[in-house]
Amino acid sequence: MTDHIYAHEHPESDRVRGGGFTLWFTGLSGAGKTTIAHLVGPELERRGCLVEYLDGDTVRTHLSRGLGFSKQDRDTNIERIGWVAARLTRHGAAVIAAAISPYEETRQNARALVEPWGTFVEVHVATSVEECARRDVKGLYEKAFAGEITGFTGVDDPYEEPLDPELRVDTELHEPEESAAIILAKLEELGLLRAEVAV
Ligand SMILES: Nc1ncnc2c1ncn2[C@@H]1O[C@H](COP(=O)(O)OP(=O)(O)OP(=O)(O)O)[C@@H](O)[C@H]1O
Ligand SMILES: [Mg+2]
Repeated sequence: MTDHIYAHEHPESDRVRGGGFTLWFTGLSGAGKTTIAHLVGPELERRGCLVEYLDGDTVRTHLSRGLGFSKQDRDTNIERIGWVAARLTRHGAAVIAAAISPYEETRQNARALVEPWGTFVEVHVATSVEECARRDVKGLYEKAFAGEITGFTGVDDPYEEPLDPELRVDTELHEPEESAAIILAKLEELGLLRAEVAV
């Protein structure tokens, strides 16, 4: 009979299907990460990519259900997203991560997980707190300013702006469709997406 197989005694697969990358959106709540991600994703699919979304809201109802918003829980959430993103990138997927990811060091950790397998493209969806609060899609800024919820990023919890993102899109200057086009152009420039040939 075969000896019992312990996972930790067996090396992880290091086979790579080429072409994978992770597009990592970061920005305040309401900045536009999900909106822009869902404009970029279908275009990537149209051009042949296998797209997987790791959106903060979805991840928190599944992979990270039960985690809160302490620094430790936020970091755990982002590290989980980074770990899954790395696996999918290894399999050649175009991963679109869209979580606030407020801490620079934790984003760097996610980058370090992904980069052995494919390119990590950090996109800062740059929107001021004032503009996010004006949009207040989820009604959370009003509650945060009223003190009804605490530990809200950009109000009474930190957001560390990316020091050196591959791209920064200013949503107060660009409509979502324009931001998506800027991102697609960047992916082409990085050789991750074939440019469309004009017919
Ligand atoms: N120029 C713009 N770019 C992106 N979104 C915009 C813009 N102008 C208005 N919006 C609106 O702002 C809102 C952004 O919400 P969205 O859910 O995409 O933010 P988010 O960054 O994913 O936030 P969260 O971290 O809470 O999930 C949407 O309702 C969108 O229509
Ligand atoms: Mg979102």
